[in-house]
Order: sequence, then C-alpha cells, then structure tokens
Amino acid sequence: MSFKELISPSILNRSAKGSRRYLLIAVTAAICGALAEMAIALSIMRLADAGLSGDENTAIRMSIYMSAAVIVGFLLKFSIKAAATRFGANTAYKLRSSLFAHMTKLKQSEAESRHAGDWMSVLSNDAFAIEQFFTYHLCNLLFHPIMATGTFIFLFLLQWKLVLLCCLIIPLSLLISWQLGKPIIRQSQQLQEIEGTINSQIQDAVLGQALIKSYGRQNWLRERFERVLKKGLFKSFDLERQRSLIIPWQILLQTLPFAMCILYGGWLAIHGDMRPAALLAFIYLLGYCIQSASALPELINQLFVAAGAVRRLDQIMDYRTEDDTGTTVADNEDRTSTDESESVISFNDVNFQYAGRSVLALNDITYDVRKGQFVAIVGPSGSGKSTIMKLLSKLYEPNGGEIRLFGKPLADYNPQAARSMISFVKQHTFLFPGTILDNIRHGKPLATDREVIEASIAAGADAFIQQLSESYLTQIGERGAGLSGGQMQRIAIARALLKEAPIIVFDEPTSALDGESEAIIQETLRQVRREKTILVIAHRLSTVQDADLILVMDQGRIVESGTHEQLMRHSGLYSGLHQNLLEGVS
Ligand SMILES: Nc1ncnc2c1ncn2[C@@H]1O[C@H](COP(=O)(O)OP(=O)(O)OP(=O)(O)O)[C@@H](O)[C@H]1O
Ligand SMILES: [Mg+2]
Repeated sequence: MSFKELISPSILNRSAKGSRRYLLIAVTAAICGALAEMAIALSIMRLADAGLSGDENTAIRMSIYMSAAVIVGFLLKFSIKAAATRFGANTAYKLRSSLFAHMTKLKQSEAESRHAGDWMSVLSNDAFAIEQFFTYHLCNLLFHPIMATGTFIFLFLLQWKLVLLCCLIIPLSLLISWQLGKPIIRQSQQLQEIEGTINSQIQDAVLGQALIKSYGRQNWLRERFERVLKKGLFKSFDLERQRSLIIPWQILLQTLPFAMCILYGGWLAIHGDMRPAALLAFIYLLGYCIQSASALPELINQLFVAAGAVRRLDQIMDYRTEDDTGTTVADNEDRTSTDESESVISFNDVNFQYAGRSVLALNDITYDVRKGQFVAIVGPSGSGKSTIMKLLSKLYEPNGGEIRLFGKPLADYNPQAARSMISFVKQHTFLFPGTILDNIRHGKPLATDREVIEASIAAGADAFIQQLSESYLTQIGERGAGLSGGQMQRIAIARALLKEAPIIVFDEPTSALDGESEAIIQETLRQVRREKTILVIAHRLSTVQDADLILVMDQGRIVESGTHEQLMRHSGLYSGLHQNLLEGVS
C-alpha cells in the first residue's frame, strides 16, 4: 500500500467535502503561529541587545512587540485547535452517517460475511479512532512540522555552527531516548491487550448472566476475571518500574543539547563569533525545535493508525448494497385488485445455496399460493423453511428458477416494494428499546393509538400490555428485555397485523408460545384468513390442520404436499411427524 493510497481514501475525501475551509484555516494559522514564535525569538534577541547596550527606547518597543507576538501566537494556536477540531468533527460526523446509511442498505449476504462483533468494532472503534485523530492529533500534525522546519531555518541563519553541533547531538539523544522507551511501548501495548480481555469478560458476564447463574458458573467467571485483573495489575507495576528507571536518563538526554549549546555558544560569544543576545534567542527557539521534532514520530504513527482505520472503512463502503431499481411501492398501488384465481406467491423450480455451503438449502422448490389461501410449510429443523421466507423478502436472490409475487417476477420489484406487500413475523423476534407503542407502530408509522390497540387485541397482546404498569407506554429494554418470549412474539404479531399488507408470512417460534397464546394466534389467523393470504411456517402441527395446503419439506425439497387429511392418508414424513408428536404428548 502506497502512502498516497493511505492519505487519499474515498470515504474520507467525500466526508471532508464542505469542511475543507476549516482545514485551510488551520494550516494558515499553523504557518502564522510558527512565524509568531519566531517573532518572539527575534524580539527577545533585540531586547537583550538593547538591554546590554542601555538602549531604553528599543527595549520598551521590543517588550511591546514581544507581548503582541505572544498574544497573537496564543490566538493562532487557539485557532488551529478550533479549526482542526471543527474540520475533524464535521468530517467524522459525515463519515459515521454515511457508513451507517451504507450499513442499512447492505445486501444480506454481504452483511453476514462478517462477524457481528467485527462490524461493531469497525463501525465504532475505527470511526472513533478517526474522530480522535482529528480532534487531538491533526492540529499537532499541522503545527509541529511547520514549527520544526521554520525554527530550524531560523536557527541556521542565527548561527550555523551551533546548528551543526545540535544536528549531531539531537538525533543521537532522540535515538537513545527512543531505544530506552521501546520496552515501555511494548509493555503498554501488552497492558492494552489485557484491558481488551477485561472488557470482553465484562461483556460476557453481562450478556450471559442468566446462563451463568443457571449453570452455577459464577465462581469460574469470577476466578477467570480475577486472573486477568491480576495480570493487568502486575503489568502496570512493571510498566511503572520501567518508566521510573528511564525517566532520569530521558531528562539527561533531553537537556544535553541545551547544555552543549550553552557551553559551545558561550565559547563562541566570548570569542566574539556570536552575540550574547543571539545565543539567548537561539536557546529559546531550540526548545521549540526539539519539542516539535520529537513529536513527529508519534504523530506519524497516529496518522498511520487513523489511515488504517479509514482503509477498513473504505473496504466496508465497497460492500455491495441492495439493488433498489425495479417496480416501486407507488407502481404497486393496484395490487389489491388481484382476483381470487390469481396467484399471489409462486415458486418455480427455485434453487438456492448459501455462500460457503456445499449443499443446496432449497432444491427445485415449486408451489403456488392463491389469494385468500392459508398455506403451511412444515418439516424437520434445517429443512429450509425459513430460507423460503428470506428469499420471499428479497434478502437473498435464488440461484436458479423464478419467484413471482402477484404474477410479476420478484426480481423486477425493488426490495421495498416487495416487502411492503408482506407482513413478516419472524422466528426470532427483534424489538427495539423504547415503548411497546413505538415497537408496534413500526408496522405502520402513522397509525393512530386506536389502530395500534386494535392490532394488539387481534394479536392477543392487549390483555397483558394493559396489566403492565404503564400499559402501552411501558419501556422495554434491549432486545425486548423485561418481556417473556411469548409476549415478545405477540407484540411482533401485532406489529405485522398493523402493517395491513395483503400477505402475512409467519415463521412460528419453536418454543415461545404457551398453549393459551397459541390458541389466540390460531384464532387471529382464522380471522384474518378471510381477508389475507397467509403463509405459515409451522412447528406445531396443530396450527396447520385446517390449512388449505400443507407443504412438507425435507433437506431443501418439498417431499409431500396436500391437506392434513390427504397427507395423513399415506404414511409419509407428515404422518410420521404427527405420530411422533402424539407419542411425545401422551
Ligand atoms: N445465513 C446462513 N448461512 C449459511 N447457511 C445457512 C444460513 N441460514 C441457514 N443456513 C442453512 O440452511 C439450511 C436451512 O436453514 P433454515 O433456517 O431455512 O431451516 P429451517 O427449516 O427454518 O429450520 P428450523 O426449523 O430449525 O427453523 C440449514 O442447513 C442451515 O444450516
Ligand atoms: Mg427456521
């Protein structure tokens, strides 16, 4: 990777658009700030000259100049920080916002190609690293190189012999200081890694709390945590010991150039090769020159850290997003005019394979659902039932065959238009932190309170919601914390019913519903059956007994189809599943 690639990543360029003027202000202020420091040094020199020769007027004038240069220098430094921070904050804001927008549009297969923790790390840590760089390091990265170069030229013009001496001593002492500090860098990296482990163990403890309690693993968890804490404690002792050992050496090495300058500069002054006032200005500026030069390696390091983070974000921007061309929601306004004989959902020889899997998840799937029908899909775990639903919601595209929705190829719809026609109740419920009302309203953002309540009644959720302390305004925690699995499921059903889509696709949860809730849902299905087309992926065979059509799946294929009575008549997979269930119950 070239340096050019590092500093010209596209997402950064795009995000920085519109804030570049702040960067220009910061660079200009950095140049002027360095000039102000040199003006101070010049005034010191002239002031000392005037003092030694007893020229009172010049001394007063120089004192005023110096004070003015100090104030201007302060204002300029403040401006660099303010402008660089403004540039950084604006850029980081746009960067995060476009990343997030990109994330929400990703193709499902692309989103699944990374581990969730990995996404979190890139989207929060990397974006944070860039923000930190802009806020804390960019202003220094602008100021120090200009300051180091400017002061170096000024010092050279003042007394080149002294600069030559410094050129020998400064790099040498910087090198020795750096060598001495190396173990510290290594040790603080190790300490950071231990901090990372501490954080992930805390995360485990929070997320896995219930599981840890139910298996009585608290002691194991505490001991594991104790071990890593101790490791961190000893590492920080080591680090402190190392630091205290090298600090005297570092101080000595940092003061050495000054001491040599005073010795050699004094000798030059005594022999008339340098004015004492010039020596004073030289020593004043030398401090700035060393400070700026020694800050550069760390700043360059920070630049590379930030550039690495930007590169990772750029890779994310390269992930493909969903294709949003095709028939739109507005084009589908006439969808309800479909007559009863018309097909609502049809799969024709559909094949599908997940990336990285060797077997087909769906193999030659063909079925047809007509308006108002109640179709059920049953089959063992892993047979491909939920995959059918994912294809229908355009999360994935089939590898072969064709899916049609209301007679039109699904591929011709844009994803939003296709999804707007189907209410999905997924196998694993996801609720956002917020009120119950807000969560149900995701189904129809402009729904009135009355409509929300009606949908909840139909989903059998109203009774338990009314019993909660704040009814529909009860706050629920992360992923529905505070509710039972069945209650979450009923909220999800209310959300789907509120959506008023002509099709309902319901992927039944395997365990979340008790007998009573199940009865309520069956009643709901019976009610909406008259108005909507229903596709149910069922784990309980009781749900499907009065379905118009039952599709039995096994290993990605539809192995049997028919009504409950037809399927029970011949001894296939369905009657076998039924038999097992009855035996399990008795
Ligand atoms: N995102 C994915 N990536 C790779 N393989 C997957 C993915 N999701 C599902 N599969 C695989 O595809 C097959 C079908 O899975 P699917 O979720 O459709 O089964 P299912 O019939 O819904 O099962 P269950 O009754 O347990 O919900 C399984 O072998 C599963 O391991
Ligand atoms: Mg499933």
